[in-house]
Amino acid sequence: MDLPIILDARSGRLAVQVTVSLRDAIRQQRLAVGARLPSTRALATDLGVSRGVIVEAYEQLTAEGYLETRRGSGTRVACKSSTESVSRRRKVAPNVGGGWEPDRAIPFRYDFRFSTPDLSTFPRGRWLWAIRHALATVAHADLGYINPCGVLALREEITSYLRRVNAAVCDVEEVAIVAGVAQSFVVALRLLSRRGCKRLAVEDPSGYRSRGLLENCAYSLIGVPVDEEGIRVDMLDRTDADVVLVTPAHQFPTGVVLSPRRRAELVQWARRRNTFILEDNYDAEFRYDREPVGCIQGLAPDRVFLAGSVSKSLAPALRLGWLVVPKGPYSDECCAERSFLDLGSPVLDQYALAHLLATGTYDRHLRAVRRRYRARRDALVGALQQYLPSWRIHGIAAGLHLYVELPEGTDARDIADRAAHASIGLEPIDSMRLAHPSPPGLVLGYARLSEEELSTAIKSLARHVAKTK
Ligand SMILES: Cc1ncc(COP(=O)(O)O)c(C=O)c1O
Repeated sequence: MDLPIILDARSGRLAVQVTVSLRDAIRQQRLAVGARLPSTRALATDLGVSRGVIVEAYEQLTAEGYLETRRGSGTRVACKSSTESVSRRRKVAPNVGGGWEPDRAIPFRYDFRFSTPDLSTFPRGRWLWAIRHALATVAHADLGYINPCGVLALREEITSYLRRVNAAVCDVEEVAIVAGVAQSFVVALRLLSRRGCKRLAVEDPSGYRSRGLLENCAYSLIGVPVDEEGIRVDMLDRTDADVVLVTPAHQFPTGVVLSPRRRAELVQWARRRNTFILEDNYDAEFRYDREPVGCIQGLAPDRVFLAGSVSKSLAPALRLGWLVVPKGPYSDECCAERSFLDLGSPVLDQYALAHLLATGTYDRHLRAVRRRYRARRDALVGALQQYLPSWRIHGIAAGLHLYVELPEGTDARDIADRAAHASIGLEPIDSMRLAHPSPPGLVLGYARLSEEELSTAIKSLARHVAKTK
């Protein structure tokens, strides 16, 4: 059997390279369901690598459900492995209104609706290794109720990571481990509501899935328009908002970065009003054109609550994130809020993440996925320019989504409805607006589609759009 595996001995991690090549071949159905793979010994000889490399790759793909091994019949491509057969068998789950996403139900062949990461890149082997390490080293005492703000080892690792990568200014006392950015919002907003805040300014447009969560914290939301420099601070100033939530690293959904001028204005606004900025460090890890820009928290550590998580870099299911609070009484108040909520995050997972960070494994994983997503973004941009040149691409080369503005007068909802007939899932920007109108547009989450799939999908979309004219 001629397997589509090309190895680059210089870039190391041969098992990962074999895994990725095989996984892509299976997902793109170049390897059919039921196809029998060569024995580990035969493939190792063929590729000139040690047998252990192939064993590790086969084990990883078996754990992910792409391969199955039966005594006597060797290793075969599992029947649930092809993307198509998986999606065909999935039931369409109801859209859970208040949640971030409607479960994993994907009725479309090409689904651009969510900016979720490619979950097949989750480093299962490394996570297992880190969990094993956590189990082997955790003290008995740490298996009890620990500090609700998190395990010290992880807080230390996150502190140095944020200082190193995001130019944050923080000490370990100000860093709390939380269940994702979502819980950061809840903790920070509850803490601020005890200090009298109740009107929250949010970017318009912004991610509508968080809206229910924010309102549930008893805040009224005020939409403030976003232009190519980010949130309009002059218009924020005209509102009676007493706290603001922003995504300055990569605005969701327009994809712009908050300009240096606006960052300074926003900090001045917070100082003048004697209030706070809630900074969602959304997509900060995924900048493809340059190093990530420093966070606003680094400019004004006394005025900013900084939130981040591993939902994009590893997987949302881990529910692991961090909240950096301003110096002062806020650390204690944050711990109190967290203990009122749920007494803290799972301890073993926190130790496992700390181990990935301490050993450099997390950074290596990020570098690998960043390369993958960059290639996908380039493929999407290329396909849009080729097949739909009148669609205007917005935003910087970053993140896991792209925002496209449609020609004036286009009905984005109609395009989405028609695309659905070609099994292409699209998300119009309308649902993300609060009050301020903006041109018709679509938000394209591309992380879960291969370069080939992206190109095929956009070509097919262009055919359907042309038919609608
Ligand atoms: C704007 C925004 N911020 C943050 C997140 C990540 O949330 P969490 O860390 O709670 O998974 C999401 C998830 O979709 C999002 O849309």
